Amino acid sequence: MKNILFVASECVPFIKTGGLADVVGALPKYCNKDEFDIRVLIPNYKSIPQKYKSQMRYKTHFYMDLAWRTQYVGVLEMELDGVKFYFIDNEFYFAGDKPYGEIYQDIEKFAFFSKAALSAMPVLDFRPDIIHCHDWQTGLIPVMLHDSFQNNPFYHGIKTVMTIHNLKFQGVWDKKTIQDITGLSSYYFAPDKLEAYGDANYLKGGIVYADMVTTVSRTYAEEIKTPFYGEGLDGLMNARSNCLRGIVNGLDYDVWNPETDPYIVNNYNAINFRKEKVKNKTALQEELGLAVNDKIFAVGIVSRLTDQKGLDLVDYVIEELCAPDMQFIVLGTGDPKYENLFRHYEWKYKDRVSANIYYNNERSHKIYAACDAYLMPSLFEPCGLSQLMSLRYGTVPIVRETGGLKDTVEPYNQYENTGTGFSFRNYNAHEMLNAVRYAKDVYYNHKREWNKIVDRGMAADFSWKASAGQYEDLYRCM
Ligand code: ADP
Ligand code: GLC
Repeated sequence: MKNILFVASECVPFIKTGGLADVVGALPKYCNKDEFDIRVLIPNYKSIPQKYKSQMRYKTHFYMDLAWRTQYVGVLEMELDGVKFYFIDNEFYFAGDKPYGEIYQDIEKFAFFSKAALSAMPVLDFRPDIIHCHDWQTGLIPVMLHDSFQNNPFYHGIKTVMTIHNLKFQGVWDKKTIQDITGLSSYYFAPDKLEAYGDANYLKGGIVYADMVTTVSRTYAEEIKTPFYGEGLDGLMNARSNCLRGIVNGLDYDVWNPETDPYIVNNYNAINFRKEKVKNKTALQEELGLAVNDKIFAVGIVSRLTDQKGLDLVDYVIEELCAPDMQFIVLGTGDPKYENLFRHYEWKYKDRVSANIYYNNERSHKIYAACDAYLMPSLFEPCGLSQLMSLRYGTVPIVRETGGLKDTVEPYNQYENTGTGFSFRNYNAHEMLNAVRYAKDVYYNHKREWNKIVDRGMAADFSWKASAGQYEDLYRCM
């Protein structure tokens, strides 16, 4: 039996800001339990819902030095769906309505969290063989493990995996402050270690010191070795390419299943979607105050509203996307310029545009179930889960061919009757618009073909089965 400890900044169902939480919440459930004991450690944020907080049990607490300060570290635990979870408790760092988002606070918060996670291991009654770190928030763990923790034999031989869910976010701050916060010696603040372009960089530290590095699709694993996608670390990604693997994310098919989904008005499946799916569309139209019309081509977006998601392309041709023969339903928060863009178009075209500028899990399920197509024109996309949710719900994805979108959506080929969605290659608004218009044409004028695209999408298997197997292989060989 191999013991694996996931350490991450978010995890479904406790706390989620994006796909990272979905992955951390699902993967442990789908690995072989006879061979791997996978547990998860996250912060005990104030914003975790009370229904979970009341199930947490106090395990222990201790005090930990963080540079010149001494900080309280509480450890809580609980079990859910057969997986054991640990929570690091500290009211100073983990208060606040949002789990994180202000980099000047987050830098110290996750230095604390990383050191607390390592320090807590001896009192968990669970010695990991492998610590699986996720994203920059846990990048200091492989570094610290290499450093002072080696004075304690408990840590000897523990291996680390660093998974990059998004190379854009690296946790960067000036060296002097980071040295002060972490207590790491100046040895680590050199360009072959934590330093990048004169600053300290948590993710870089993780990538340099982890035994294995993974990212969340094969294409993204290749892309980040190039300057365009490498976010300044492409040189490092090339240097570590022998230890870099791209493993595409899966989707938690127990949670994302149109046949059993408790949030949607009318359940359906791959056999009866032709008749049943549309009832979700008319119900949502009514709920959102859109014109109720079961025939109209409805396109959805559920997303962080940031440049990563290709929304400047949407901005550029939004009049055309809000054409009278379309409905456009957006759910998301983020950059005010995009929030206001969608608000404005909802105001302008009330009957066919709906801008839902907030975070709401239930509504996201309804949108995936209700829409005919799903638009995801990302500038870059490490994996993307939204397009997998769409495929599962018979909602045809329209994507740009990058990262995980390229690996999971097969473009429609009308001559060979293949494909699960529509795609375009260049980062160009009119290429995107052409893909949307092509989809619309097939939807309106070739309905049988459209339904076959849906058939193939719903039949595609992006459950965790295959991908969990690849993580298992990785753990085995470490
Ligand atoms: P990323 O992690 O880059 O944000 P992904 O496609 O991997 O992108 O995952 C995004 C996840 O967050 C999906 O599950 C999506 O449904 C969800 N999501 C994004 N915005 C919202 C929102 N406003 N309300 C509910 N769910 C959202
Ligand atoms: C990141 C990426 C997204 C990916 C998710 C989970 O947030 O932006 O593409 O699906 O992590 O790995």
